[in-house]
Amino acid sequence: MTNVRLSKRLNCIAKMVEFNSVIADIGCDHALLDIYLIQKNIIKKAIACDINEGALNQAKKNVFINNINNIDLRLSDGLKLLKKSDNIDTIIISGLGNQKIIKILDDKELINLDIKCIIIQSNTHVYKVREYLVKKGFYIHDEKLIKENKIIYTIIKFMKGHKKYSAKQIYYGPIILKNKNELFNELLNDMILKNKNIINSLPNKMLLKKIALKINNLKIKKEMI
Ligand SMILES: C[S@@+](CC[C@H](N)C(=O)[O-])C[C@H]1O[C@@H](n2cnc3c(N)ncnc32)[C@H](O)[C@@H]1O
Repeated sequence: MTNVRLSKRLNCIAKMVEFNSVIADIGCDHALLDIYLIQKNIIKKAIACDINEGALNQAKKNVFINNINNIDLRLSDGLKLLKKSDNIDTIIISGLGNQKIIKILDDKELINLDIKCIIIQSNTHVYKVREYLVKKGFYIHDEKLIKENKIIYTIIKFMKGHKKYSAKQIYYGPIILKNKNELFNELLNDMILKNKNIINSLPNKMLLKKIALKINNLKIKKEMI
């Protein structure tokens, strides 16, 4: 048995997991997060799912090497193989794009699973996941920005319940806006740069789209500290 060490990104996710919870880690890959959470006695049980057989086999090896018996590994597309009797209270989805994350969450009525907490790290358009989960009756309990290998990640912890948010809060994140820091500025610079690249790649006939992106960049600049 070895003590699993997590990357900065996965460590940030681990810190958001509630003590004694039962988690479903969707897209678990190597299952290192789940092994870490069990080794540290943070969670009671993990159901680690992946759609890819190779990934799940690696996860099985890691679980075996570390002599862990409360990680249930399932070859599953998203939440499809989760049942109410699994008593899951927390879903974690990290390292996927927003469309896939939303599709996974939309596939099964979350209410049927009685989920209290959802922790998300989306690789793309984070605001779309905020928008989706707030509509589904979750509020933003915590948000963190972290930088690893030159990439800035947003990690969000949603809890069951209702809160109203402005469009700006959904776009940038209500907690991230409250705690603006240097990393937030860096994130905004990245967003501006991405928009500039799109503007440059668009043909001149898409003038309106170019103007909309330029206006968006001005709005983003205004949020900088
Ligand atoms: C980039 S890895 C992220 C692994 C880990 N969650 C992390 O954050 O480091 C994405 C994983 O999600 C899995 N995956 C993609 N679509 C999935 C789906 N619909 N259901 C379950 N797993 C999926 C992939 O096979 C892959 O192992």
